[in-house]
Amino acid sequence: MPYDDLLADIAADMRTVTDRGRVADYIPSLGSVDPARFGIALCTADGSCHVAGDADLPFSIQSISKVFALTLALGKVGDALWSRVGREPSGSAFNSIVQLEREEGIPRNPFINAGALVCTDVHLAGHSPREAIGEILRFVRGLADDNDIVVDETVARSEQEQGFRNAALANYIRSFGNLQQPVDAVLGTYFHQCAIAMSCRQLALAGRYLMLGGRSPGAGRIVTPQRARRINAIMLTCGHYDASGDFAFRVGLPGKSGVGGGILAVAPGRGSIAVWSPGLNAQGNSQLGTLALERVSAALGWSIF
Ligand code: DON
Repeated sequence: MPYDDLLADIAADMRTVTDRGRVADYIPSLGSVDPARFGIALCTADGSCHVAGDADLPFSIQSISKVFALTLALGKVGDALWSRVGREPSGSAFNSIVQLEREEGIPRNPFINAGALVCTDVHLAGHSPREAIGEILRFVRGLADDNDIVVDETVARSEQEQGFRNAALANYIRSFGNLQQPVDAVLGTYFHQCAIAMSCRQLALAGRYLMLGGRSPGAGRIVTPQRARRINAIMLTCGHYDASGDFAFRVGLPGKSGVGGGILAVAPGRGSIAVWSPGLNAQGNSQLGTLALERVSAALGWSIF
């Protein structure tokens, strides 16, 4: 089936689903997003891009930004990062603190909040928060070939006001010496990174380097093929927190979710897919987004298994 027809079919089916999960409401600007929204975009390895539904409406990418922050942190310190962050699934919620005590301030992986804060710390070294945020924005704009991508300042501010759990995580990691920059600077940068707003189209374009062995069509070589494979491996095993196994079982692709309802999924050598539906399941991942990706993967035979 042609990609456009497949995506249009899925978007039409998703419009009729009544159990759409629960929109994140820990900050008002996320809680007010219309749960009926659904967008999907697919960029293929041969350079075409296909969209359906609300694919051009920007949404808060939230934890999907952790993929870009990990890429930048690896670019800065290379494999030395792995002495400060693990690469094992946590089996715990995205904002859990329990493993940090037993594991002496070394977060399980870069995609739980604790691990993302360490990546932000690495990325921040030698920069002001403003410069670090500028760098991540330039990075995603380059990947997506689109200079219109911005930080939603209202979301960033609310994240900061409600960021008690992240502040606890950052201080706890700092107490083990695994944050080197001032805690407030790390948190401020992290909240802004989470508040980047992108559409499905922009996100699918930005994800192309992960399906193309580390090369972005517009921005050139981003990472080596080995590093692209490894980032994909961590997305597969850790990208959906305590539902990573379920996502691998159902979709069979590396993927990273965000509490704004977006998911970026990568079919290596084949496609970069972004979906957005704001309603979340119990683990904080987009309910219809997962369902839609399950459909795409099955229809195209793109599961990596
Ligand atoms: O740090 C937080 O808790 C949020 N800004 C992002 C969490 C998130 O996206 C988790 N994903 N499902």
